[in-house]
Amino acid sequence: MQVLKADNLTKIYGSKRGRSYEALHHFHLTVNKGEFIGIMGPSGSGKTTLLNLLSTIDVPSSGKIIINEKNLTSFSQQKLAKFRRKEMGFIFQDYNLLETLTIGENILLPLTLNKMKVKEMEKRLVTVSKQLGIDTIIHKRIMEVSGGQMQRAAIARAIIHDPTIIFADEPTGNLDSKASLQVMESLRQLQQENQATTVMVTHDPFAASFCGRVIFIKDGRLFNEIHRGDNRQSFFQDILNVQSLLGGNTNDLQTIRF
Ligand SMILES: Nc1ncnc2c1ncn2[C@@H]1O[C@H](COP(=O)(O)OP(=O)(O)OP(=O)(O)O)[C@@H](O)[C@H]1O
Ligand SMILES: [Mg+2]
Repeated sequence: MQVLKADNLTKIYGSKRGRSYEALHHFHLTVNKGEFIGIMGPSGSGKTTLLNLLSTIDVPSSGKIIINEKNLTSFSQQKLAKFRRKEMGFIFQDYNLLETLTIGENILLPLTLNKMKVKEMEKRLVTVSKQLGIDTIIHKRIMEVSGGQMQRAAIARAIIHDPTIIFADEPTGNLDSKASLQVMESLRQLQQENQATTVMVTHDPFAASFCGRVIFIKDGRLFNEIHRGDNRQSFFQDILNVQSLLGGNTNDLQTIRF
């Protein structure tokens, strides 16, 4: 079943006056339910632009975005805000947790915003925090837990309202290798157990090797697309191979892990 369709997306920045820049050129993408898809490409290739368009944080210059058979490009700002709150989950590089709240309160935020009953909220908090292995720290404050635990709390928050689709922008960008592994295993597990649909931008081939499919962007266009077989290690190698074909990554910090 198709969850997301991006049809002929073009994004031109700064077209009103001065120089304009085409960051995305007639881009097509479809994502099926339960897919875990990675977006990679050199710096400046258009990854964040694409993610911002798909998640309706920014609007395309032309083209359509369809999620759950709804054409979001025709939605008003207000309708979009509601759609994002109900149907989307977000995971960011810097976690975006509120420091004045506990881990549990942070995780519950999307439900609070959607005005859910307290009993149901508590039930869901137990389920997701157990699933992410953070059930013992839900009463702790943000400053009292590790980066990996913060990111797993952010993942719990992204899924607690059972969204149609999860968008992640460099979720392992601030994590060491052990925490990255835990976070990526959590995302993969959610995909396999809950059929979560996730679109993740990453520079990190290790993180990308947990995806089922990785698309590579170059100069705002699709450069290549590869699928994972049974073996994560060989997918990791495939990703490195496409990256070296792509070039332009020489300034990126490449983590030596596999
Ligand atoms: N608001 C903006 N106004 C003008 N140009 C922009 C704007 N945002 C991005 N760009 C340009 O569009 C291109 C794509 O940017 P984007 O942020 O999507 O790249 P990226 O692939 O996410 O890069 P990185 O890996 O460095 O995060 C770049 O050339 C960038 O300079
Ligand atoms: Mg970016």
